[in-house]
Amino acid sequence: MLQSAIKSKAKGNISSVFAHLGASRPTLGPRFIDLKKSIAPKDPAVLQRAFDRLLNHLKKEAIEIRQRGSSVIPETDIKTIRANGGQLPESVAKEVKKRGAVVVRNIVDQALAVEYKDQIQKYIQRHPGIVGYPEDHPQAWEIYWATSQVAARSHPNFTATAVALNQLWHTHGNAPIDLTRNLIYCDRLRIRQPGDAKFALGGHIDGGSIERWEDPEYRQCYKKILQGQWEDYDPFDVTHRIEAEMDFYESPSGCSMFRIFQGWLALSKIEPNGGTLRVCPLIREQTAYFMMKPLLKEYLDKNDFMGAWPGRCQEITAEHHPHITDIMVSVSPVEPGDGVFWHCDLAHAVEPKNEMKSDSSVLYIPSTPICRRNSEYLRRQRDAFSLGLTPPDFPGNHCEKDFEDRAMPDHLTQAGKMGMGFAPFDEENDSLNSGQKQARRQHNQILGLTGS
Ligand SMILES: [Fe+2]
Repeated sequence: MLQSAIKSKAKGNISSVFAHLGASRPTLGPRFIDLKKSIAPKDPAVLQRAFDRLLNHLKKEAIEIRQRGSSVIPETDIKTIRANGGQLPESVAKEVKKRGAVVVRNIVDQALAVEYKDQIQKYIQRHPGIVGYPEDHPQAWEIYWATSQVAARSHPNFTATAVALNQLWHTHGNAPIDLTRNLIYCDRLRIRQPGDAKFALGGHIDGGSIERWEDPEYRQCYKKILQGQWEDYDPFDVTHRIEAEMDFYESPSGCSMFRIFQGWLALSKIEPNGGTLRVCPLIREQTAYFMMKPLLKEYLDKNDFMGAWPGRCQEITAEHHPHITDIMVSVSPVEPGDGVFWHCDLAHAVEPKNEMKSDSSVLYIPSTPICRRNSEYLRRQRDAFSLGLTPPDFPGNHCEKDFEDRAMPDHLTQAGKMGMGFAPFDEENDSLNSGQKQARRQHNQILGLTGS
């Protein structure tokens, strides 16, 4: 049963995947020029006109973004989500669909979030030698199974938030995905010390890079953009993301799950300039920009996808994407227990320096609905958890293998057991559509669980 966890990635830290943190930039072979030519519209004027319209539109939107700064990112709180039947209020949902990011307040009580951090710090102190980045003074730690990390990931309010976010997406027909439930993806954490300037992540997008153009199924998501009709592109259509290949090249830190929203839960106060997240708050337009630009006539013969290399994150830079980097904003101040979430295609960065007098700390926790890909990874992640190994997507340091004070499967709540693949989801509920039923059935089979 635990065989699947044995295959581990090489040792390392968060820098393994970011070219700007030291990972090499692989070269692109000539076949990538052929790829460009095969997917660009036959008439180059079509894409050029679309790109010109986009630049005009961005110029107008940039005025509002510069005026409003961080406040363009919509926000809500867990009480409002619960009072609204588990959904984001319509006005907030509309803004999230435009901006691609949201702040959700009070997911966890402040005191509990502070307690989470305290527990993690003691765990780190009890076990000298845990690796992280930077190596000499880690700010991003290679730990996954601290008891409070495990508790936070299945906190009922976190689950409710993730489900509300999942449901901003939709499918055509009844594709095999269940957006009304959430699985748990186990990621690392950041405790960024005052003054730190090393854990600065430049602009990038998770979820693969060159695969967005190269994989025919992934490319389907962006069909309208690649046809020059970016105005009709729907960033929240999940249909072709379910089977999209996001990691052709076994990236050192490629994510095997489909993270519908990336996210973090704050464990400290974090202000703009406190080493917080920056995002480009226009999901449709920024996606159209980075997808179309390498295919414009002037770049069509260049062996270059502008920041996309096999096996690395898609980088977003002032050199190639000035209209995106110019309008990136930092998220508003957050308190311990608040969460920030951003769309899987949204360009984001981490501020260069923590200029606060206190640490800037988060648990990375995305939202990840039930679908085949996510259930398959969950099986491998469950095995790793049982053995205390590093989750299979992350560098195989296995720092926590022999820690007796790490979280164990027995510690999970019932919701935690379901989210981590130890307990089944009900497959036969009459309120489910055929796609949801199929996703749950598949899930229970993959995890070897009997449906209830
Ligand atoms: Fe990222």
